[in-house]
Amino acid sequence: MTAQLNPRGDVAVLVPAAGAGVRLGPGAPKALRPLAGEPLLVHAVRRIAAAPSVHTIVVAAPAADVESVRLMLAPVAPVTVVPGGAERQASVAAALAAVPAGPEIVLVHDAARALTPPALVESVAAAVRAGHGGVIPVLPVVDTVKEVDADERVLGTVDRAALRAVQTPQGFRRSVLTAAHEAAGDPLTDDAGLVEKLGVPVVCVPGSELALKITRPFDLALAEHLLATGA
Ligand code: CTP
Ligand code: MG
Repeated sequence: MTAQLNPRGDVAVLVPAAGAGVRLGPGAPKALRPLAGEPLLVHAVRRIAAAPSVHTIVVAAPAADVESVRLMLAPVAPVTVVPGGAERQASVAAALAAVPAGPEIVLVHDAARALTPPALVESVAAAVRAGHGGVIPVLPVVDTVKEVDADERVLGTVDRAALRAVQTPQGFRRSVLTAAHEAAGDPLTDDAGLVEKLGVPVVCVPGSELALKITRPFDLALAEHLLATGA
């Protein structure tokens, strides 16, 4: 049975899912690869749809797979599927253009963060609702970080206490994200970076270890283990 999204919700979630998954190794586009027998994108959309504030979900799929992604997601949740672009930023822009009038909070969430809990979707949305133009979920950096030159010679040690590892969903007032994409220049790998360039303050909320980005084969193995143990 298809989960119903909340018609009174105030949140649209854009799901960039059009990447190839080069770092995962040869195979289908990453969002369509199986994790415990279901595509990563199915896991991601199911969790987004379980967040009570979500009114609309727009997925940017690989251009060749738009129709199969529609069929694949139909039993999971009501979603709009559009063709993505060559860069993540273009995929997000295509999804943003398909958001209907209504939701004034827009979240951007990587399909590759397939195990992100619905509670993180809610906490990012709540921080935007509370008045912040841009909100990102973050974790502390655990490794010591060095700056190096082109020859891998160490230039210095960066103060780890001032660093954060950034996850998705990233949340924005709709007008802020629209303006950021209209003003966008060279492609960036996150939307908050575009918003920072506009001069709009971006604030952090606590992220979740379950929101890890499945990037390399190790991450996929870790996600399989997390699912098998109840994530
Ligand atoms: N993405 C997208 N359109 C692109 C590139 C990426 O929608 N042209 C999406 C991916 O599908 C993913 C998210 O952006 O959900 C984060 O990107 P990343 O983890 O880098 O995924 P890929 O680009 O697929 O992986 P790789 O860089 O290893 O090829
Ligand atoms: Mg990529």
